[in-house]
Amino acid sequence: MTGQRVSLRPFETEDIKELHQWSNDPVSILLVGRVPQAYEQIEQQVMRKRQNGDLLLAIENEENKLIGWVFLKDIEHEHGRAGIGILLAPEARGQGYGKEAMKAMIKIGFNQLRLHKIYLTTRGLNEHAIALYKKIGFVVEGKLREHAFCNGQYYDTYYMGMLKSDWQAEVYLNCNS
Ligand SMILES: CC(C)(COP(=O)(O)OP(=O)(O)OC[C@H]1O[C@@H](n2cnc3c(N)ncnc32)[C@H](O)[C@@H]1OP(=O)(O)O)[C@@H](O)C(=O)NCCC(=O)NCCS
Repeated sequence: MTGQRVSLRPFETEDIKELHQWSNDPVSILLVGRVPQAYEQIEQQVMRKRQNGDLLLAIENEENKLIGWVFLKDIEHEHGRAGIGILLAPEARGQGYGKEAMKAMIKIGFNQLRLHKIYLTTRGLNEHAIALYKKIGFVVEGKLREHAFCNGQYYDTYYMGMLKSDWQAEVYLNCNS
């Protein structure tokens, strides 16, 4: 699957080494809300996701360098819904790769998996991610007030979602603008 600058391919076991590095970056720890983790813990999380039937894809840039991963999790065909998550290598952030990778994965979710809805949660602290999600058509469906404590402060947690009809309208608008 190829976007303008990013390609998505299956996430392989040998990619876990890099995922471990990105996950332990201090900014990721702050934004995603975890503590530093050992390689084996990350490996177990990947195994659990595979057992759960999550769709795990590696993100490569235009030089075929691995720069992150994006996944659809908790895919429930009976409800037509799945969660989405993304993590980029620190050096790859802020250059538009996240937006392209999210759009490519959303297209797979709606067109190939025939989902009705894709959703996510994010911390209010993560202004960058929220800006990205809104830009590509997610809407805030709810918030948990002062749900996460980080950097000495409580932050809200946002529930965001996108329906297939929202996405189709967005694609239509972009084609006609
Ligand atoms: C969040 C993340 C996936 C975003 O991907 P990215 O490639 O860095 O983001 P992009 O460069 O595509 O930017 C997308 C939009 O975010 C906004 N944005 C970019 N940098 C920003 C910043 N520093 N602060 C606030 N908003 C910002 C802009 O609206 C931008 O759209 P534009 O370029 O059309 O103006 C990536 O930074 C990341 O992996 N962060 C750490 C892990 C994480 O937070 N994961 C999500 C958990 S919910």
